Amino acid sequence: MANNLLQGKRGIIFGALNEDSIAWKVAQKAHEQGAAFTLTNAPIALRMGEINKLAEQCNSAEVIGADATSVEDLDNLFTKSQEVLGGKLDFVLHSIGMSPNVRKKKEYGDLNYDWMLKTMDISAISFHKVMAVAEKQDAMNEWGSILALSYIAAQRTFPDYSDMAQAKAMLESIARSYGERFARLKKVRVNTISQSPTMTTAGSGVGGFDVFMSYADKISPLGNASAESCADYCISMFSDLTKMVTMQNLMHDGGFSTSGITEDIIDQMRK
Ligand SMILES: NC(=O)c1ccc[n+]([C@@H]2O[C@H](COP(=O)([O-])OP(=O)(O)OC[C@H]3O[C@@H](n4cnc5c(N)ncnc54)[C@H](O)[C@@H]3O)[C@@H](O)[C@H]2O)c1
Repeated sequence: MANNLLQGKRGIIFGALNEDSIAWKVAQKAHEQGAAFTLTNAPIALRMGEINKLAEQCNSAEVIGADATSVEDLDNLFTKSQEVLGGKLDFVLHSIGMSPNVRKKKEYGDLNYDWMLKTMDISAISFHKVMAVAEKQDAMNEWGSILALSYIAAQRTFPDYSDMAQAKAMLESIARSYGERFARLKKVRVNTISQSPTMTTAGSGVGGFDVFMSYADKISPLGNASAESCADYCISMFSDLTKMVTMQNLMHDGGFSTSGITEDIIDQMRK
């Protein structure tokens, strides 16, 4: 459904790896809603080549490689994006997460601390770097909207989520701190969306993910939110309809975060 909600807006979308990626769906919907944007991912992810298919679907969007932990790469990305899009930006999606400890199945009591620092850098500090580069280049238009994707493990324990829980807590904190700063400087809003478990490359890397997903589905009165509906929420957050929302962690989880128990779980426990 196209309502031209993002007509005339320019942006950068991080993190579309393949068609399961949440960022992939955001790009498709942003295009449908009239936005122009560049697509970016880490050089190693670009080598898979999938992103070029997405770029074609989105009016031949420019693909610009950037390791989100490298300020130099981000500097180049923001400069080039403004050049190819023809002006300052209205929205940025940070859809990035990776933990070497999770990937290599390290026990939480035996974390590799160098990897833990890598987790923080990729999954949280990169969000600060993105905004600091945007600020220094004065790359955002007033009332622009910057979003990152989070998970409820920032507030509650999910053992297999490991050090990603700390990364998400930091990510949400950065959204508040930078949100205050960017509002004051440029009336730019900064938020995180805390999404239901979703079957993507990053999601399925977490141990026991199937069980995780079906439990969340049963305890959420509306069921798990899909990647597609997450993308819809992102579009509304990039639109002018949500101008006064900032410094928030917005739950997009079918009611999971405020649900105690559901009929589904009661039925299951009775069996
Ligand atoms: N899948 C879920 O269950 C779930 C739930 C809540 C939140 N999230 C969050 O949504 C976001 C997107 O994840 P997804 O589920 O779409 O999975 P995904 O694997 O499709 O996306 C993760 C992306 O991060 C990119 N990335 C990793 N290291 C990078 C680096 N150094 N520089 C630039 N990009 C880098 C990857 O290439 C990939 O495109 C992540 O922040 C994730 O934590 C996912």
